[in-house]
Amino acid sequence: MKEKSFAPMPEAAESRIQEIIARYPEKKSAIMPALYIAQEVHGWLTDEAYNWVSERLGLAKAHVVQVATFYTMYYKKPVGQYHVQICRTLSCMLCGSRSVVKRIKERLALASGEISADGLWSYEEVECLGSCGTAPMVQINDVFFEKLTVEALDQIMDRIEKEKPDLRYSTIREELGGGLADLPRSQVW
Ligand code: FES
Repeated sequence: MKEKSFAPMPEAAESRIQEIIARYPEKKSAIMPALYIAQEVHGWLTDEAYNWVSERLGLAKAHVVQVATFYTMYYKKPVGQYHVQICRTLSCMLCGSRSVVKRIKERLALASGEISADGLWSYEEVECLGSCGTAPMVQINDVFFEKLTVEALDQIMDRIEKEKPDLRYSTIREELGGGLADLPRSQVW
């Protein structure tokens, strides 16, 4: 018998992927939610995560990796508890993202892709996140914060450091964490 190339996944993840697969005429159509589930369980897309998706959907691992590497919402390496994705594309830039980006870099004093010593923060610069009409914006975990100013960004980051809010979307539970719900925010999923 072929040995499994991944550690057992939680029962909730296994039943969820079967539910999602059943929605489509072909298993491979479930690749994006499957990657989200694997990322939710592992925290990022480990080799085992790719193996799980590949096996459950009957796809070559290379195909799974190819899809994941196209999208910045899939983490190809470990990220901090709060991963900030900074839009550096034109609309955000024209609306003042340079000062927001500068402030994030000052606050975190990290290189793109590095994780802070306490594990709390990481960031990366990404291309348009599809929220150009509310530029400048950043995505923190699975939440958009839009029409940002440096002051608003500082308030959001201060509150995250103090409150450790849940800003993640769970594909397994189909639920976005309720952290900072008093602020105007958009769900990414
Ligand atoms: S240019 Fe920033 S969201 Fe589109």
